[in-house]
Amino acid sequence: MRFLITAGPTREYIDSVRFISNASSGKTGYALAATAIKKGHEVTLISSSDLQPPIGVDFIGVESAAEMFKAVKENFQKCDCLIMTAAVADYTPIKKSKTKIKKSKSDLILKLKPTTDILSWAGKQKLKTQIVVGFALEDKNLRKNAEKKLKEKNLDLIIANSPDSIGAEKAAVEIKTPNGKWQKIAKADKAAIAEKIISLLEKF
Ligand code: CTP
Repeated sequence: MRFLITAGPTREYIDSVRFISNASSGKTGYALAATAIKKGHEVTLISSSDLQPPIGVDFIGVESAAEMFKAVKENFQKCDCLIMTAAVADYTPIKKSKTKIKKSKSDLILKLKPTTDILSWAGKQKLKTQIVVGFALEDKNLRKNAEKKLKEKNLDLIIANSPDSIGAEKAAVEIKTPNGKWQKIAKADKAAIAEKIISLLEKF
């Protein structure tokens, strides 16, 4: 199969040196990429993480949500399965200062605008033969909120987890297809979780 995997946080620049980001490490996406390569698949990995890309992947380095969207658009058509593990920023500054913003005594108000939801775009574009997988990080009502994303973004699989998996070596996830029941994957190394997810996708 040809996998397109996104991983890590995005960086939304405020000025030439400062950005808004989040605590995602990219470990889950990289574990999925490494597992897919080990199992003989082709992988394009789009990421802003500082982790070393697994040997054998076609790596595209990006920073912002807009750059990630551009890279996904350019590579989506040729993939069999898109897995959006990236923690894409939902908002980006309306204006980026070309030079470093100088401090002053007054309040600084940052105006943000929504980014494009890449996963929703892919859910609308996908052919019947393509699989689109999303992640949902939920601190409450995990199943209900994740199921909403599965439906609204027209996904084939949603993988839900809680904030304790951010940056951690291990994760516990719950997964669901549109017509299936919730399935729990008990806490394990991200490599073991990746193995289960790739095996499931091979059977789609
Ligand atoms: N995602 C995306 N493009 C964005 C934002 C998120 O493709 N601009 C993807 C992520 O990669 C992930 C999924 O959407 O697979 C997460 O869904 P999202 O609705 O963004 O979750 P939250 O940001 O947690 O939003 P909410 O506040 O609605 O829970």
